[in-house]
Amino acid sequence: MTYTEHFRKIVEEQLERVEKLKNSPAAADFSSMDKIVIGTVDGDGIGPIIMDSCRKVLEKLLAEEISTGKIELRKIDGLTLENRIAKMETVPSDVLAAIKECDLLLKGPTTTPGKGDNLPNIESANVTLRRELDLFANVRPVVIPEKNIDWIFYRENTEGEYALGSKGIDINEDISIDFKVTTSMGTIRLAKAAFEYAKNNGNKNVSIVTKANIMKKTDGKFLSLCYDVAKDYPDIKTDDWYVDIMAANLVNDQINSNFNVVILPNLYGDIITDEAAQLQGGVGTAGSANIGSKYAMFEAIHGSAPRMMEEGIGEYANPASINRAAVMMLRHIGMTEKASKLESALDAAQESLDMPGDGTGNTAADFTGFVLDRI
Ligand code: IPM
Ligand code: MG
Repeated sequence: MTYTEHFRKIVEEQLERVEKLKNSPAAADFSSMDKIVIGTVDGDGIGPIIMDSCRKVLEKLLAEEISTGKIELRKIDGLTLENRIAKMETVPSDVLAAIKECDLLLKGPTTTPGKGDNLPNIESANVTLRRELDLFANVRPVVIPEKNIDWIFYRENTEGEYALGSKGIDINEDISIDFKVTTSMGTIRLAKAAFEYAKNNGNKNVSIVTKANIMKKTDGKFLSLCYDVAKDYPDIKTDDWYVDIMAANLVNDQINSNFNVVILPNLYGDIITDEAAQLQGGVGTAGSANIGSKYAMFEAIHGSAPRMMEEGIGEYANPASINRAAVMMLRHIGMTEKASKLESALDAAQESLDMPGDGTGNTAADFTGFVLDRI
């Protein structure tokens, strides 16, 4: 394929995707469902260890709903790097079909082969699932009470640099080009979700983050559409920042508590949310929700920590992040009391346990026991 053909194919695919976006399903209404099926997927590396913790916690917290059949926890196997490589599918089709049978997904971290790993070039399972399930908003709260910080990040989750991340072109030996995609519908639905959240939580401030001075087309569109959406929320204070200065602002204690809701395109959101989670106590401490209209997926913000497994210290993995994701899932389906109960137990665990991730301190099993005692 010549690169002009390659480029045409990419554009056609994106045009097709935009057509599909126009027919997106209505948002799921969990209050009217007789039964909610929560799929659980272990993933790679420390995934099975932290997911085991989360399943035990949910089995206790939701014991009543599970026994009456209102909620089913359904374990889905097969989303492992070995199986994905054996089938040469990012998300094997039988696994994807099983996932689509569920209403919600709780997912452990999956490994993505990188350049130099000597593994086949398969795409990130996260990225594929976000795209396949059309999970357009990646929502990541970061709360640091002693600094009066209450942030929630709305990261665009299916477009930007990720839409065509595995479809760049090597023009020749000397030139490689990747692509970044922004669509109106993709941006507007994210901005609406963020502004709705801000409105429903006491008109919190909204900050839009881009690099529109450099990425003029894609970030330019993103920025102007977010401001268009802002017009429907006149009581909300909205401002915008370039991503570099935003990275600095978050560590500037003079001003960082002024930020509340932050809207970002995909890659900046990826980077800034790791920074923010680190300020809260580590990437292991933050949960992440991937929200679409029909489906929603909740996951740990961190990766599969292959290094911990190689060093044989997997049992010291911190299950906080996946359990925080479970809190977000419970809120998403309207079980706010149980969500708060679990959240308090997790806060207490974070206060009391020492989990530096280097094979010292408390283990995942200690963490799970501590939380189970408090729910
Ligand atoms: C995240 C992760 C993923 C991402 C990786 C695992 C593909 O870093 O959820 O933030 O880049 O989105
Ligand atoms: Mg990330």
